[in-house]
Amino acid sequence: MSVVIDNLKEAINGESNAKRKYELFAEKAKEENHPEIAHLFEAISTAEAIHIKNHLRALTVLTNKDVKVEDLVEVNEEVLRNNVKDTKSNLLDAINGETYETKKMYKEFVRNSKKEDNEVAELSFSLARKAEKVHAEIFSSYLKKLEKEIIIDKQKIFVCQICGNVEFAVPPSVCPICDHTQKFFLEI
Ligand SMILES: [Fe+2]
Ligand SMILES: [Fe+2]
Repeated sequence: MSVVIDNLKEAINGESNAKRKYELFAEKAKEENHPEIAHLFEAISTAEAIHIKNHLRALTVLTNKDVKVEDLVEVNEEVLRNNVKDTKSNLLDAINGETYETKKMYKEFVRNSKKEDNEVAELSFSLARKAEKVHAEIFSSYLKKLEKEIIIDKQKIFVCQICGNVEFAVPPSVCPICDHTQKFFLEI
């Protein structure tokens, strides 16, 4: 049995939970009158959807089967709702999740892909890993601003539709993570 196939399934489930969690964190941020933080959670939620799509595509290619996301994913709405706290705690939760994915989960999954000489999975995992690092950094910068009570200005947020990278104001001419051009950035 391929470890990488299991890793892809685990990543799809993890990303699906993160995606829904950020939607709930966005609702909470709106309630607490932090519209720019809500906007960020919404944007990064869509970035996780890109990772789900990429991993699903990889799984389909590798198993030669039509993969149904609902067969792989267990999103427990009640658990996720109970996990929603104030926005400061939610940002910290997000930073911890993204850091875990960057430094542990995807790091290990990339290593396993290399061991199995599986370039399809390796690409999907390594793109996600690099994007999660950016997500963690952005969440950290927002948390710092919130803690220091610095007003977060309204700004445009763009998500790369290939890798889930997040950029502000004007997307770069080339995505620094996946090398695709500016036209692949979608404003959220
Ligand atoms: Fe992320
Ligand atoms: Fe990208």
